[in-house]
Amino acid sequence: MESDLPKIRGYKSLRLLMEPGEYYFCACGLSKNNPFCDGSHRATETFKPIPVKIRFKQEVKWCDCRRSKDLPFCDNEHRNLPGYVPKNIEE
Ligand code: FES
Repeated sequence: MESDLPKIRGYKSLRLLMEPGEYYFCACGLSKNNPFCDGSHRATETFKPIPVKIRFKQEVKWCDCRRSKDLPFCDNEHRNLPGYVPKNIEE
């Protein structure tokens, strides 16, 4: 990778309805199964997936820019990034 920062996939949250279970959030931003780990982080020496337990069926707001201070969840930090273009207040 060119830097120690994870790849920005999007300047928005990824809202997904999740079933209960254990998931592995992609921390590197390289997964082809975004926002979940597919093993692509092995090409880096920096990143490891973040394990997440979802205890009940719910909508989860995953971080897609990977700059959230509450990873793997979105804290709207994408709105402070230089590439962010506001579209609507639901993002
Ligand atoms: S593919 Fe990104 S952390 Fe595994």
